Amino acid sequence: MNILVVHGPNLNLLGTREPEVYGTDTLEEINSRITAFAKKRDAAVTFFQSNHEGEIIDEIQKSSHDALVINPGAFTHYSHAIRDAIQAAGKPAIEVHLSNIHGREPFRSRSVIAPACRGQISGFGPTSYLLAIEALVGDS
Ligand code: DQA
Repeated sequence: MNILVVHGPNLNLLGTREPEVYGTDTLEEINSRITAFAKKRDAAVTFFQSNHEGEIIDEIQKSSHDALVINPGAFTHYSHAIRDAIQAAGKPAIEVHLSNIHGREPFRSRSVIAPACRGQISGFGPTSYLLAIEALVGDS
């Protein structure tokens, strides 16, 4: 299984961005953990990070992935365009968040992306991504 892992806006700043909320691991460190975990599950992962909505949509459209793991960052809460791209791709997708979006500011608890996904994993730090991989692989 080829899994595309998409990280949305500001996730390139992990490590220094609000460490009390998002932890101290850098995106590179998180990606290494995901790669190692996926390998144990016989899955291959490719990564894409962008701060731009259109670039994320382009990547989802052109990728030949079997499944998608996406942390849409703040786009979670308002990007109908990313949701449509996930829906159009017609592949299993899982939405992930490092923080528990249901325990923070009220605007964060609404996801417009989740209805296009198999499910949402939120609040387990970098482990959220590993749980998403496990869910996809276990499902295949
Ligand atoms: C986030 C939660 C979002 O509300 C926020 O805008 C982010 C990160 C998370 O992983 O917890 O950028 O997606």
